[in-house]
Amino acid sequence: MSITISTADLSLAKKSGALLFFTDSKLKFTGLLNKADKDTGNHLKTIMDATKFKGAKSSVCLWATPHAEFSHLLCVGTGEGKNTVSDFRKAGLNAFKKANAEGVENLNVVLEIPKNTKLDVVDAAAAFAEGLKAAAYKFDRFLTGEKKKESSLKKVKMLCTEHKRLKGRLALTDALMDGQNLARDLVNLPPNIANPDLMVKTAKDLGKEFSKEGLKIKVLGEKEMTKLGMNMLLAVGRASKYESRLIIMKYMGDKSSDKVSAVVGKGVMFDTGGYCLKPGASMAGMKADMGGAAAVMGMMKALAARKAKVNVIGVCGCVVNMIDEDGFLPSDIITSYSGKTVEIGNTDAEGRLVLGDAMSYIIDKESPDEIIDIATLTGACMVALGGSYAGIFSNNDKMANRLIASGDKTGERLWRLPIDDAYAAPTKVADLNNNGAPYGGASTAAVFLKNFNGDLPWSHLDIAGVGMAGKVPGNADVEGASGFGVRVLVDYLETNK
Ligand code: BES
Ligand code: ZN
Ligand code: ZN
Repeated sequence: MSITISTADLSLAKKSGALLFFTDSKLKFTGLLNKADKDTGNHLKTIMDATKFKGAKSSVCLWATPHAEFSHLLCVGTGEGKNTVSDFRKAGLNAFKKANAEGVENLNVVLEIPKNTKLDVVDAAAAFAEGLKAAAYKFDRFLTGEKKKESSLKKVKMLCTEHKRLKGRLALTDALMDGQNLARDLVNLPPNIANPDLMVKTAKDLGKEFSKEGLKIKVLGEKEMTKLGMNMLLAVGRASKYESRLIIMKYMGDKSSDKVSAVVGKGVMFDTGGYCLKPGASMAGMKADMGGAAAVMGMMKALAARKAKVNVIGVCGCVVNMIDEDGFLPSDIITSYSGKTVEIGNTDAEGRLVLGDAMSYIIDKESPDEIIDIATLTGACMVALGGSYAGIFSNNDKMANRLIASGDKTGERLWRLPIDDAYAAPTKVADLNNNGAPYGGASTAAVFLKNFNGDLPWSHLDIAGVGMAGKVPGNADVEGASGFGVRVLVDYLETNK
């Protein structure tokens, strides 16, 4: 689906396509719509009057108008009172689904935003476009024949008085959503294809695509990591036929600033649980256990494509948690890159091991000013928050509040959960234990990670419940992988420099 922009002139709209407009709950026609209505002998008004549509926020109503100038009319409600950009994102999702289901091929969007929204038209339009693009994404590369069906909605034209300003913004939206869709692809891909090598290839391809923007890629393999003593990460990947990898993606887009942020993603390409084997039902979704690394890659792509004025190092720890003779065992004691020793309480609590070493390494080598990690880390976080919020844990209130604000703005919402030493898993034989706890397990994982944050301002995002549409409430906006993290991280990094 492509989006083009034109001036606010209805004669430029694609005739025989559908016409979409926004109204508040009073369903009043103003501006272009009023004119269009008059031109068609109050045709629009007559159709609107014959329905029960109430113009509620983000709701979409569609009428087929076979004898009119436009094949369909779509009305998007803005309800009463202020709207947020998330309301418009949701409206974009709903509008795509409705129009596409009706076989609409061309959609003209009249960008006159009712006053009650109190939104800038370009902000509203960009969020609406985000929703359209998120809904238009499909993971269909393994479908053939009848099952592979193209979307009908292929072209969207936005008619807007602020068309020049909108053009610049939509290019940024495109870059953002392309980054998010890359993350979604990586998560949706099956584990027989999405292995650490694929992550390396994806990163290197990005490095080539954005070499002009200065995106630099470095990859560590098992040999280098063994020398470095990254034994926690290596232990997790040891039973896999795929080599474990650490991918480092460096983008220095702001030469005028010294500030560097590091973002580390959990890339467990598949999590069987290891010798603490997951039961079949829990293992089923574990191809998505690399959602954090996928988000980091999507984020780097988006930042580079947006030529963002930020300095960011993205790190992906990519391993497969498998079983064989060489696999790590419960009760093993491992010395981490940081020197702290860890008793393996559970081989299924592997994400914190991968992240711990990846965080220590990047802090040691690059001395970033702040660090964020993002991971499908605990079932406990999914139990606590379902699919509407990811968990955020932080040692820094300012940073946490800024991330939460970015989450509210971008619709990838974060809810703060506690870190407290009382949650730490006990051990008598090592410095730390990677085990979980029957209660408060998301905090137990966060307390473990705290040991590897180098005392920097740090935030940990647990995205276990929000990465994949599933049976948890609140994450069914899109099908399959959501690419959660790309939007909130890009916004946070770009607005807090
Ligand atoms: N990858 C899982 C967490 C997960 C669960 C992500 C459900 C997405 C959906 C993680 O590695 C894991 O297995 N965690 C265990 C920790 C426990 C063994 C201490 C968990 O949450 O049960
Ligand atoms: Zn696990
Ligand atoms: Zn895992």
